[in-house]
Amino acid sequence: MSPELESWYDALWQDFLRHCPSARKIHAVLGGGAPIINDHIALRTFARPGIDLAACGAQLQALGYREGGQYHFAAKRLDALHFEHPEPGVPKVFISELRLADCSAGLNRIVDELLAGLGPADSPGFMHAGRHWAVSQQDYRSLLAESEYAAWLAAFGFRANHFTVDVNQLPGFDSVAAVNARLRAEGFALNASGGEIKGSPEVLLEQSSILADEVEVEFSDGAASIPACFYEFAFRYPQLDGRLYQGFVEASADKIFESTDVRR
Ligand code: NI
Repeated sequence: MSPELESWYDALWQDFLRHCPSARKIHAVLGGGAPIINDHIALRTFARPGIDLAACGAQLQALGYREGGQYHFAAKRLDALHFEHPEPGVPKVFISELRLADCSAGLNRIVDELLAGLGPADSPGFMHAGRHWAVSQQDYRSLLAESEYAAWLAAFGFRANHFTVDVNQLPGFDSVAAVNARLRAEGFALNASGGEIKGSPEVLLEQSSILADEVEVEFSDGAASIPACFYEFAFRYPQLDGRLYQGFVEASADKIFESTDVRR
């Protein structure tokens, strides 16, 4: 990794550890102290010129990433891209944006207030700069009623939503099912939306995730604990050419988004 890419990655990882305290325990349980290789990092943003997929994608390209697949999630009003790095072992980036034009006037009013005065994504550091605004619990709840994704972004801002263990490169485990069994035995709660295992050998990708850790967030009208960030697990199958599939599966990613849902 170039020094710039390494420091960017490390900043995302250190911030992730603060918002997903389970990550350290998961590394101990699955890795037994050995390093764990990540498959991808997931980022979230709003479809607003200057900070949207195009703007963040340009910063990823500056780090050497190249655009991979495009994905659409109609019900959640999200579009996404994935980026791959030519250097082996560098995690992919999956980045999504909320289509504000398809959201209500009320949601847009709140988001406009949050983003007022926010400059464009003019450096890769924008993607781990966190929350640039104050937000009230009342606005958080209003956003939650329409879009869990918008509420999460309002509360947490720009940071990794999740990291994903590359199960193909995890010694001692040969499937997502085996990882899930071990995590369950250790008391972790898995995201069961759409079944604990999303995907199948037929779509060349299997994924699972824990439910997001709850972290205390400072709102302008007091602190509250809400779902923050989570760890995901991915196992990839070979394509016809023998190489492991490197894309994502919309039906599976759609359910993975729900790992940060508020458990009512
Ligand atoms: Ni993911």
